[in-house]
This record gives sequence, C-alpha cells and structure tokens, in this order.
Amino acid sequence: MWKKSLCLLIPCVLIAYYCYTPVPDKIEQQWELMMIWSFMRIQMHIAPLFEMLGFRPFPLLEILVVPPTSDENVTVTDTLFNNVPVRVFVPKQKSSTLRRAVFYIHGGGWVTGSAAWDPYDELGRWMVERLDAVVVSTDYRLSPQYHFPTQFEDVYDALRWFLRKKVLAEYGVDPTRICIAGDSAGGNLAAAVNQKLLNDPEIKIKVKIQSLIYAPLQALDMDLPSYQENSHMVIVKKQQMAEVWSRYFTSDKALYEAMVANQHTPVESSHLFKFVNWSTLLPERFKKGHVYTNPIHGPSELAKKYPGFLDVRASPLLADDSTLRRLPLTHILTCQYDVLRDDGLMYLSRLRAADVQVAHEHVEDGFHGILSFGSSLLNFRAGFVPRGDCIKER
Ligand SMILES: *[C@@H]1O[C@H](CO)[C@@H](O)[C@H](O)[C@H]1NC(C)=O
Ligand SMILES: *[C@@H]1O[C@H](CO)[C@@H](O)[C@H](O)[C@H]1NC(C)=O
Repeated sequence: MWKKSLCLLIPCVLIAYYCYTPVPDKIEQQWELMMIWSFMRIQMHIAPLFEMLGFRPFPLLEILVVPPTSDENVTVTDTLFNNVPVRVFVPKQKSSTLRRAVFYIHGGGWVTGSAAWDPYDELGRWMVERLDAVVVSTDYRLSPQYHFPTQFEDVYDALRWFLRKKVLAEYGVDPTRICIAGDSAGGNLAAAVNQKLLNDPEIKIKVKIQSLIYAPLQALDMDLPSYQENSHMVIVKKQQMAEVWSRYFTSDKALYEAMVANQHTPVESSHLFKFVNWSTLLPERFKKGHVYTNPIHGPSELAKKYPGFLDVRASPLLADDSTLRRLPLTHILTCQYDVLRDDGLMYLSRLRAADVQVAHEHVEDGFHGILSFGSSLLNFRAGFVPRGDCIKER
C-alpha cells in the first residue's frame, strides 16, 4: 500500500516543483503564467539531453512553427536575403504611395526562436494591418551550433540586402521610413546593427526609428538592481540570462560560471565599466534599496579566449557617445519584473545624454517576453500593452 502511495506522491511532488514559482502579485494571470513557465522549464531540463543526441536543443518548440500563409490582406513569403532566411509580409491592398517598412528581429536568447514561430508570424501580420507596412522578419543562425558574431552578421547581411534602392523599390518601400525593431535577443541585435550602420560607408539609406523591446544591452555587469530583484523571476532568471549570454560566445562552462558570479570582466577592461555604471545611469526610483559596489575583476584568460562579451556588437552599451549621438529616433520598452530592465534604462539615460530623441515605455506589471504572450496562442492581457503602443505610427 505504502509503495502505491509513494508512487503517487513522487510525481505529485515533481509536478508541484515544476509548477510552483512565486509570481509577483502585480502580475495578472498568475496561474497561466506558472503553467507556461513549467512547460518552459521542462524544455530547459531536457535540452542538454537532446543536444547530446545531436538534435536541436528545444524540440518541443517546433510545434510553434507555422508555414507562410497569405490571406486576403497580406502576402506572406519565405525567402533568402543574402542567403539568410527571412519571412516577408507585404500588404495586398494597392497603395498610391510608397510604404513604411519594419525590419524585425525575433528573440529567444540567441539559442532559439524563429520568424516562422506563431507569435512572430502573428506579430508580422499585426504590423502589416496596424501600420500598413512591409514587414521583413529575419532569422539568423543560433547557438550552440553558431556563436557570436554569426548571429549579428546574419542579421546584418539580411539588412544590407534589404537596404538597397532596388530591393526597397521592388517591395514598394519608402527609404526614408524604415524601422528596425526586435525583442529580447532580437532587441540586442537591433541595437547592435543600428550602431554598425552608422559607420558603414556602403549603406546610404538611413534608418528612421529603432525599437528595442526588453533587450539585453550589456554583458559586463550581471548584478544590476534588476538582476538582483528578479534573480528568481519566471521566464528569465539571472542564472538563465548568464547562461544564454555565455552561450552566445562559447559552450565553455567556465564563462557561464564566471558570469553567474559576476567576475568575468578582466582588470584591463575596467575602463568599460563606466558605460554600465548603474550608480550614475539609473534613475533614482530604480536604485532604491541598492548599494553600488565597484565590480570584481575576472581572469584575463577568459576574456582573451572569448572577447565577444566585451565587443560593442554584443554589448551596445559599450559604444561611446560619438556613436550614440548619431542614432535614429529610439523607442525603448522595459518591464518592471525583468532582469534586463536596467539594461534598457541605462541605454535610455545614455541616449538622452547624447541628445537622441527617445520614447520610453515602462510596463509596471510586465515581465520578460510579454510581447509574445499577447499573441492569440497565449493571450495575456499584459502582452497587449506593447502591441498597443510600441511602434507608434509615424
Ligand atoms: C482583412 O482586413 C479586413 C479589414 O481590416 C478585416 O476585416 C479582415 O478580418 C482581414 N482578414 C484577415 C484574414 O485577417
Ligand atoms: C560608478 O559611479 C559611482 C558614483 O558616481 C562612482 O563612485 C564609482 O567609482 C563608479 N564606478 C565605476 C567602475 O565607474
């Protein structure tokens, strides 16, 4: 008898362990969020096994893939821009003028995600409808098979292909009304390619707006107040952020361990800390209750082996003011319950100090990933906040 009870008890405990993660009271739909979170955690736990067997790390997520399907309002096609797969959404209705365009970069921690995933496909259609825009949603090769700078270069290659007179004309796009946008890791790539564009003499067409949605923007300090406050938050906790950051650069666990301990930046690079100094860059209300301590340095060998995390193409906050000053109109979205909140807030401070026009939206009850949670698949109310306001019509 006790054996049977034990057989029942063990799975119950395991399920409860997966399901139960405290969610802040302010966040609505707590139970649904907890369920999605358990699904994600199961994925994360089995990912290494699949990798060992030579498969992609998140096989269950393949169910999210939808084919490119046109309807009465939009033509959807999968194609290649410079050999990089992209999904293009073009409004069907004839237009007498050229249209605006959104070049969109999906999230997923540089390890997962796709323009073909249902929430991103839906977002593309939504932007077409809402903005009457041509939407190019790009893919890029993912880690752990590919490390930095492959992701960055794939996105930049696709973008370069798109930002040519001939291609824009083909899609009926107005070269003066182009936006580059992305969420999470895609927001990181959006910020990085926007900086690179400024110094590329071969690209004459300028971007009008960049939109960075809960983007990671630096990999130097993983002990910011937002990391401390949300170290055990659902969807992305500190440990996972250190994991995806380190895996962007290498599969070597040594970098992950140094990042979790926040002791990965070598003394030779200490001059870079001023760019991510939350003591000077965070608004007062987000500093509350936190005491700034100067960073602890890590071993030089690690940074010599994996210099990516000190590279401005991975950590856009490391750009100097002369670069930032030339950036286009910027939209930044941050969420209160997100380890990456302060990355966005610090970029905001630096851009404003460099006289860049910035629109900032802070979602008080938001958590990392809400944009995708607003899709019809998950249908979270908070997810509609960024959808309602994030890419304002211009
Ligand atoms: C196409 O657009 C019309 C007008 O906005 C809308 O009523 C209709 O539902 C759209 N069709 C699809 C398949 O989304
Ligand atoms: C960060 O800013 C504080 C306050 O201005 C300052 O005391 C500290 O030395 C700075 N640290 C670094 C590493 O720049």
